[in-house]
Amino acid sequence: MIDPRYSIRDSSDLLSPSLLIYPDLVRENVQAMIALARGAERLRPHVKTHKMAEIVRLVESLGIKKHKCATIAEAEMIAAAGGGDVLLAYPLVGPNLERYIHLVRGYRATKFRVTVDHPDSARALSEAAAGLDRTLSVLVDLEIGMGRTGIDPGDAAADLYALVDRLPNLRADGLHAYDGHIRDTNPAARLAAARPGREKVLALADRLEKQGLAVPRLVMGGSPTFPIHAALEHPGVECSPGTIIFHDASYTERFPDLRFTPAALLLTRVVSRPRADRLCLDLGHKAVAADPSGPRARVLGLEDAAHVNHSEEHLVLETPRAGDYAVGDVLLAIPTHVCPTVALHRRAYVIRDGQAVSQWEVTARDRVLGV
Ligand SMILES: Cc1ncc(COP(=O)(O)O)c(C=O)c1O
Repeated sequence: MIDPRYSIRDSSDLLSPSLLIYPDLVRENVQAMIALARGAERLRPHVKTHKMAEIVRLVESLGIKKHKCATIAEAEMIAAAGGGDVLLAYPLVGPNLERYIHLVRGYRATKFRVTVDHPDSARALSEAAAGLDRTLSVLVDLEIGMGRTGIDPGDAAADLYALVDRLPNLRADGLHAYDGHIRDTNPAARLAAARPGREKVLALADRLEKQGLAVPRLVMGGSPTFPIHAALEHPGVECSPGTIIFHDASYTERFPDLRFTPAALLLTRVVSRPRADRLCLDLGHKAVAADPSGPRARVLGLEDAAHVNHSEEHLVLETPRAGDYAVGDVLLAIPTHVCPTVALHRRAYVIRDGQAVSQWEVTARDRVLGV
């Protein structure tokens, strides 16, 4: 039985494959996020999941005024949508330094913040900001186990924070720590895995404060560790989940304690029945993300079908119930990994009360917008 909240009365005119957004479910997810965080001001959700101005406006209307992003285009999309506070949590190198300065200069109503994890990056940012009439707010990115970006949260990070504070045109503005490597299904195991990294962040903040350096914010984690960091009483904590705004099949299965509802689905059609037990859908990996390995989507009504072939424009399912479906039939699917799936689509149908009522642009799927 398909969840009636996903049903569409007349899908005959809807293109396939396409992305569908259910704004009422998005709203419920955001409200659940705010409740778990115990206040909208303790949230800085990551926009990489949705990349849409409409969702920025939706979360702002519910009281969330801070946003996190990974690309210059996402930062620009947020600012253009009226977002007042943007953290670009990504190292700026090459021409992106200058693009960032353009952005700060161009969107005066938005407060921009950025991370650094190396003294050379801090110096480069300080120099790039020389002609600006404002100081740049800079968070130090900490490596707490993910092994991707960040600096060791001991002496090296303390020195970098002090350097940022001293450099002209910069202001040390807090710490950033992402622990996306923590993926235990069991919440107690997840807590045990997250605690050591979190203790290091808190100890560093304490040490810096004792040195007389203000640490106004600690931007922590993604969705799996969101309930853990949301429970922290420390001042300045900002939780930055992304995925749970739309949620997906992978997080639903892996983290059953995250009680959010998939709110971005895919519409697909049966395009062929090459054998009695096979259905071919127009849901190739140019329409649904090809990661992780295994089924790339949970096709509603065919959850137990074997996914036997996935190519650019085709998804082949094997099921003894293939005969129940005709060529042209519409199916809905929950993507396994929603964030890269959204980025494959230029726009999404907005589904309200069983009808496609409008379309929203996935603006920041592009790498370059204005700057
Ligand atoms: C730096 C950073 N923060 C937050 C997130 C959000 O994590 P999640 O997708 O688990 O919500 C991500 C995800 O990639 C990230 O890279």
